[in-house]
Amino acid sequence: MREIHNIVILTGAGISAESGLAIFRGPEGLWEGHRVEDVATPEAFARDPVLVQRFYDARRENLKRVEPNAAHAALARLDEAWPGGLLIVTQNVDDLHERAGAKRLLHMHGELNSAWCRACDMRMAWSGAMGGDPACPGCGVAGRLRPDIVWFGEMPYEMERIDAALMEADLFVSMGTSGNVYPAAGFVQTARYCSARTLEINLEPSIGSYLFDESRTGRAGELVPAWVEEVLK
Ligand code: OAD
Repeated sequence: MREIHNIVILTGAGISAESGLAIFRGPEGLWEGHRVEDVATPEAFARDPVLVQRFYDARRENLKRVEPNAAHAALARLDEAWPGGLLIVTQNVDDLHERAGAKRLLHMHGELNSAWCRACDMRMAWSGAMGGDPACPGCGVAGRLRPDIVWFGEMPYEMERIDAALMEADLFVSMGTSGNVYPAAGFVQTARYCSARTLEINLEPSIGSYLFDESRTGRAGELVPAWVEEVLK
């Protein structure tokens, strides 16, 4: 088997589920009572900015009440201890990976705690409410801030860096993601094409489960720490 030097990890909502954050595609296909399309598209924001800001303001507030779980902690430990290349690509907009201590991390779908001013194009840390049309601290224009989150139909962040890491990867691990949303759902194919070994860890087999060399089903809070122990042994 190929020696493992470079690891790429993709995380999704399932990694934060045991911290108490709702996943997107629950049993009723609703996210906190909303269809994803009604709160996660540029069209939804144009149609009803008050609803969309209220929705993300509530998510941002809720983030202050939750803590990283054992899966986040294990990945932070791997990040600190792994001597080779490592990149944690998260689809999550929460900050639980970094609060657990992960450093080699990127948020491909943006961050709840970031604002993007459509007047001056500046992005800035933002921990309070964005509803009520606050002014941009950079340019002073009011009412032009939006959550710095990649919505459906928009281009995820840092794709070049992700593709470069996938091409160099010896091991690709996908955790807590249902495999519904591209381009993230296609990373396993890129990694395989570049000869990486592939592993999935999820509560249930994802849509693309058959594409992985190995699929482990169960809770991230148990399986991720166990896998990190294996890798660091
Ligand atoms: P989903 O809600 O689609 O999938 C979460 C997956 O986590 C499901 O397959 C669950 O079975 C699994 N899961 C739940 N609890 C778990 C646990 N304790 N341990 C392990 N797995 C668990 O969320 P994502 O795949 O992350 O995009 O969704 C991808 C994107 O869709 C999100 O980033 C978001 C959304 O629209 C944007 O906002 C752009």
